[in-house]
Amino acid sequence: MRTIAIHGATGSIGLNAIDIIQRHPDRFKANVLTGGSNITKLVEIAQQTSAEHVAIADLAHYQDLKKFLPGVQIYAGTTGILEAACIDVDMCLAAITGSAGILPTYKALAHCDYLALVNKESIVAAGEQILAEAQSQNTKILPVDSEHNGLYQIFEESHRSALTHVTITASGGPFRSLPKDQFHTITKERALKHPNWAMGPKNTIDSATLMNKGLEYIEAALLFNLAPGQIKVVVHPQSIVHALSSYHDGTTLAHLGLPDMRSPISYALAWPERIKTPVAPLNLATIGSLTFEEPDYERFPCLRIAENVMKSSQAARIVMNAADEIAFQKFMANEIHFTDIPVIIQNQLDALSSSPINTIEDVIALDQSCRQKA
Ligand SMILES: NC(=O)c1ccc[n+]([C@@H]2O[C@H](COP(=O)([O-])OP(=O)(O)OC[C@H]3O[C@@H](n4cnc5c(N)ncnc54)[C@H](OP(=O)(O)O)[C@@H]3O)[C@@H](O)[C@H]2O)c1
Repeated sequence: MRTIAIHGATGSIGLNAIDIIQRHPDRFKANVLTGGSNITKLVEIAQQTSAEHVAIADLAHYQDLKKFLPGVQIYAGTTGILEAACIDVDMCLAAITGSAGILPTYKALAHCDYLALVNKESIVAAGEQILAEAQSQNTKILPVDSEHNGLYQIFEESHRSALTHVTITASGGPFRSLPKDQFHTITKERALKHPNWAMGPKNTIDSATLMNKGLEYIEAALLFNLAPGQIKVVVHPQSIVHALSSYHDGTTLAHLGLPDMRSPISYALAWPERIKTPVAPLNLATIGSLTFEEPDYERFPCLRIAENVMKSSQAARIVMNAADEIAFQKFMANEIHFTDIPVIIQNQLDALSSSPINTIEDVIALDQSCRQKA
């Protein structure tokens, strides 16, 4: 029986993880659940899973949570989320969205044997600190983001010196074919309609701008210790091939699967075993054709921004990540246009003065200062 803490339990990833956990009650026990502010969903899943510890970021819900979940240990506020991250479990699924996930992910490393990593923002901003902490705590990181999970499954560490490059795919999002002169007409309602994946709003908007692929490009470089020149991005509208690794003998290995996050989530939850999921088997004849194209950096400048940032500094990664989140919030509030998102990010990067980053506290301080300036 593997005990599991799910951070971001009420979100798209969190609920998919609970779906898998409930299909395998003999294997998994969700002991700790955390969420942001959706108390109704949090209470519902806490009752379903009989979780012993439940935390909510929004302090205003503390008393209600206590009332609805008698006998359960309740935590609230940012401190409460961190307390929940420090409860000992076998595995932690880090699925809080955005920078709010950085510190809980870092803290959890000292309290679990396995970290199933979904919160890409924590690696983008604090990769050095998180990887060093994982090593010092002897905690194994299992990537869950579909491309990185795919890469993890096909990456031949023993043949690292023969690796020429890896490829991660992007669906291209809802505006893959939209001409540039129509980008000013993009509304948040259209941007929130992803053609293939069902995800939370931040990830969906990031997919529409291709910043999601930019974040994943950086995540791949840090998680797999690759030079920026060793990672390629290719647009693949069907989202069936998730990752490829190419070797100097001319061989390329590929990871394929339907676009359903329950596959990579189950892979991480059960590692090193494979368990059954409700995900349908892949039928290539039914799909018919798989197509690939180069990303268009002119219409989607966020991808180029991220590639450049990866060659720059950790401070630049923190600023890019924070600025992307700020721009996302402004776009969702109808304060800016879709085309303003890369402009806001680039402006924040241009304003960055030299900022040495050593500790996790340095990461949080720079992230916070970006938000104060915005
Ligand atoms: N969805 C996907 O298919 C997918 C794929 C790959 C990677 N990811 C990554 O996985 C992470 C989660 O994505 P998602 O799509 O599941 O997002 P989501 O549906 O928006 O869920 C986010 C979760 O984080 C919680 N949360 C928000 N702010 C919080 C805070 N300040 N403190 C504690 N919890 C907070 C939310 O709680 P409330 O519900 O109460 O707001 C919710 O449980 C992101 O980093 C994303 O990039 C997602």
